[in-house]
Amino acid sequence: MRKIGIFIMLIILILSACTNQQKPMNEEDRFIEDLLSQMTLAEKVGQLNQYTSRWEMTGPAPKGDEGAQSQLEQLKSGMVGSMLNVNGAEATRKAQQTVVENTRLGIPLIFGYDVIHGYKTMFPIPLAEAASWNPELAYLSSKIAAKEAAASGIHWTFSPMVDVGRDARWGRVMEGAGEDPYLGSVFARARVEGFQGDDLSDELSIAACAKHFAAYAFSESGRDYNSVEIGDETLQNIVLPPFKAASDAGVATFMNAFNTIQGMPATASSYLQRDLLKKQWAFEGFVVSDWNSIGEMIPHGAAADLKESAYRAIEGGSDMDMEARAYINHLEELVAEGKVDEAKITDAARRILRIKYRLGLFDDPYKYCNVENEKSMLYTAEHRDAARKVARESMVLLKNEKQLLPIASSVKSIAVIGPLANDKDSPIGNWRAQGEYDSAVSLLEGIQAAVGKSVTINYAEGCKLSIGKRTFPDKMTYNESDRSGFAKAIQAAKKSELVLLAIGEDCFQSGEGRSQTDIGLKGLQMELFNAIYKVNKNIVVVLMNGRPLAIPELVDKAPAILEAWHAGSEAGYAIADVLMGHYNPSGKLPMSFPRTVGQCPIYYNYKNTGRPQAEAPGQVLWSCFTDAPNTPLFPFGFGLSYTSFEYSDIVLDKTVMDENGTLTASIKVSNTGQLDGEEVVQLYIQDMAATYTRPVKELKGFEKVLIKAGETKVVTFALSKKELGYFYPCGKYVVEAGQFNLFVGGNSVELQQTQFVIQ
Ligand code: NOJ
Repeated sequence: MRKIGIFIMLIILILSACTNQQKPMNEEDRFIEDLLSQMTLAEKVGQLNQYTSRWEMTGPAPKGDEGAQSQLEQLKSGMVGSMLNVNGAEATRKAQQTVVENTRLGIPLIFGYDVIHGYKTMFPIPLAEAASWNPELAYLSSKIAAKEAAASGIHWTFSPMVDVGRDARWGRVMEGAGEDPYLGSVFARARVEGFQGDDLSDELSIAACAKHFAAYAFSESGRDYNSVEIGDETLQNIVLPPFKAASDAGVATFMNAFNTIQGMPATASSYLQRDLLKKQWAFEGFVVSDWNSIGEMIPHGAAADLKESAYRAIEGGSDMDMEARAYINHLEELVAEGKVDEAKITDAARRILRIKYRLGLFDDPYKYCNVENEKSMLYTAEHRDAARKVARESMVLLKNEKQLLPIASSVKSIAVIGPLANDKDSPIGNWRAQGEYDSAVSLLEGIQAAVGKSVTINYAEGCKLSIGKRTFPDKMTYNESDRSGFAKAIQAAKKSELVLLAIGEDCFQSGEGRSQTDIGLKGLQMELFNAIYKVNKNIVVVLMNGRPLAIPELVDKAPAILEAWHAGSEAGYAIADVLMGHYNPSGKLPMSFPRTVGQCPIYYNYKNTGRPQAEAPGQVLWSCFTDAPNTPLFPFGFGLSYTSFEYSDIVLDKTVMDENGTLTASIKVSNTGQLDGEEVVQLYIQDMAATYTRPVKELKGFEKVLIKAGETKVVTFALSKKELGYFYPCGKYVVEAGQFNLFVGGNSVELQQTQFVIQ
């Protein structure tokens, strides 16, 4: 009996030795371990410290900021591992030189920057790009942005933002891919691959950063930096999937978030950063804090002072400290006191060095700082062409009555009106990196170029959207009273056959810190519309905005509406391409448009509740508003074309899925109009009864197909059983047996439907 016991013990020992066996060291590991072995604790802590340059600040200046001179001294003494907001090949070279030539080990800096939708050539804002439902475009724009940024000495972008955003009051929805975790995952992957390419050491690629980990978009009432109260089931199924997709795509870094989640600061969350990301997902890169998010644990009430913040952040798994100076001031002390194990600091430094190694910075710290490249590789004709292509495919046709669009060749006079009609700046959008002020092609310029001399253009601004200077960190003051431009606009409308009215949001109305309680048309814009509508009903509204808008009156009255978003450098040309019919619009909304802000957050994949309104329309004791419908103004996935599509019934290859099952769903889509067009065919499922309730619909696939006029195409989706499960709140992924609805169609509401069963 004893012998058996000893034998079993032996087997257990051998097995555990096998599983604990470290993977063999490769060249990268050897290099990094060797370097780490030479580093003092202070030098390791230096690697964890990130400062902004003083000439562009994307957050509030830290208290007790010592200024540029002291920063230079710190660079020289090896107390800085990374800088953000240093721009240009020359400046990055200079800073790099300071570090490489003055510090004991000469470890190069990694330069980070917010390259969100282009570097110099601006692409549509990310929300718009997601409206293309074409991940290849996100890949392309990220690739070009990486190329331009790299040529300017940038190694690392704080992008993509993969926060699933359901609340249009939150201004940062412009930076993401909208409200759906599946679409968000597809775009997360495409963007990471676009920025990073196949090889991080390639001179044309830069490291990406999945942010903000996690749940930042769920800030209460859409107010930026506010606390987050979401349940674990929503966290697992809605928030985390795009982060997982980014991690699977090999994203080099993650950024944590400003918010708390159920009282726990994301920055201190060892569940998120250590257990999930680094252990379960086997993420090899590093986590950077958000701007002073470590220091902000003090006002959150989660740390008494900066020392405790540093303690909580390093314990939680934040590797790099952006702008809090918590690590540089307190980590050594915390180790000396025995409160923090040095191994944690070594691990954080290892992760940072690993990414520097992969970028090739140890081979050539200056490889990205090339003034010649910078001169020739930015804002090229090729990049601007790409920006135009991406922009036109991102636009969504919301309404088109009276066949106003595409503009008929018989139209000989067009009024171009509105505060955004000749605005060369708003299309650049917020988070514009090095995109220059007033550098976009305006709608007026675009349409003039498209029609040439054959059509008379009557331009009038009508009214201004805001008063005074609008700059990055300031709040805007909207024009509520200056109607002096109305008369000219009315005249222009009167003498024209067609009106193009460009209204919506200024570029600095959305983005970080731009939360709003009113997401309608600000200032006098609706009044301007009404004044013009009185004299000319042939109005095509061109919306330029960074978030879904609540605009029921406009939608009711305007016969045609094109959602053009903040469309980037080539906005005007791209809009004209669509208006003239040179490109048939194919975009679909990545976020629902509410009827009223009171519906926010509003999203297609809601839970049915125990009293779904559909069962008793008009009755109050059911889940409904008494003063507005539950339904959105425009649903997720919605968008029109200049042609029309018809869907057949869905054909399933089987209706019962077994153990390791797969299933295919096919549908015929016919182009029944006169023009060739692209349609985004969308597939949704609904798990009818589950342990934890499931949404009424979940997007599980889509395909964008070009269908010629009169042609029919069969679109087939293959689903495997493992795609049909969901996460329990504890994070366990489960596929449950039972009945499922399956839907296919051109938006999340107008759908063909069938059923299948999982055994
Ligand atoms: C704060 C923002 O939340 C983050 O997204 C950005 O990358 C950093 N500032 C750096 O600018």
